[in-house]
Amino acid sequence: MKIAICGKGGCGKSTTTALLAKALARAGKRVLVVDSDESNYGLHRQLGMERPKDFTAFFGGKENVLKDMMLSNFAHKFFDGPWSLSDIPGGYCGEKNGVMLMASGKIHQANEGCACVMNDVIKQFIANLQLTKAEFALVDMEAGIEHFGRGVDNGVDLLLMIIDPSFESLRLSKKIQELGASIGKPVWFVLNKVTGDTRQAMVETVADSGKIAAILPADPQIAAAGLTGAELTKHCPDIQELAQELIAGGLV
Ligand SMILES: Nc1ncnc2c1ncn2[C@@H]1O[C@H](COP(=O)(O)OP(=O)(O)OP(=O)(O)O)[C@@H](O)[C@H]1O
Ligand SMILES: [Mg+2]
Repeated sequence: MKIAICGKGGCGKSTTTALLAKALARAGKRVLVVDSDESNYGLHRQLGMERPKDFTAFFGGKENVLKDMMLSNFAHKFFDGPWSLSDIPGGYCGEKNGVMLMASGKIHQANEGCACVMNDVIKQFIANLQLTKAEFALVDMEAGIEHFGRGVDNGVDLLLMIIDPSFESLRLSKKIQELGASIGKPVWFVLNKVTGDTRQAMVETVADSGKIAAILPADPQIAAAGLTGAELTKHCPDIQELAQELIAGGLV
C-alpha cells in the first residue's frame, strides 16, 4: 500500500511518518519511506539513519533531468516499467530495522532552480512503484497542497492528513478532503499534538469526524526528540493501532 502523509507546515507529517514506518516494520512489514520534501533535513534523523543521496542524482542530477523534461515538452518518462523495492539502486536508499529511506532531493544552493524537477521524478517513481501486500510506502510530503497540483498524489492508494490544533489545519482538512475526492483517493485524518483542551474542538471541526484514523497526544518525549534531532523511539499506542488497521486493509 502506498500512503501520502500530508498537511500544513509543522503539523507533524515527518514525525507521524517515522512513527508509523517503525510501527509497521515492528509488525513485520517491509516499509519504504520516501522523503519528498525538498526543504527539510530532519526525517532521516527521526528514523535514526543517514540521509540518502538525492534520488534525482540517479537520473543525472537536476540540470539533466530538467533538460530531459524540457526537450520532451514535460512528457519524459524516467521509468520504463514498474519498479519493486529491490530495484531502488544502492546508495540511494538506506535501511534500518526493516525501514528503507530514500529522498527525492534537497535544495542545496541559492539560485539552483525550483523543486519541480525532483517532484516530477518522485511523482513518476511513486506511480511506477509496485508493492506486495506485505510492503508499505509512506511518502512524507512537503507542507501544503502544491503536491496535489503537481500530481504527486496520483500514484498513492490513500492519503493521511495530519492535523495540529490550529484553524489553518482544520480548515485545510476540508480542502484536502475535496482534493483527495477529485482524484479518487480515500482521505483519513490523524489529529496530532492533541491535549485535553483541544480534543473536542478538533474532533468537531475536522472535515469528517468519521474519518479520524488516529489521535496522537502532544507528547513531551516526541517534542524533546524534535528539539535535539534524536531518533524517535517511542511506541505510541494510537500509531500501533493505525498500523494494524492499515495491515488489515481497513482504510482503503
Ligand atoms: N505529537 C507530538 N507531540 C509533541 N511534539 C510533536 C508531536 N508531533 C510533532 N511534534 C513536534 O512538532 C514539530 C514539527 O513536527 P514535524 O517536523 O514532524 O512536522 P512536519 O509537518 O513534518 O513539518 P514540515 O512541514 O516542516 O515538514 C517537531 O518539533 C516535532 O517534534
Ligand atoms: Mg516534515
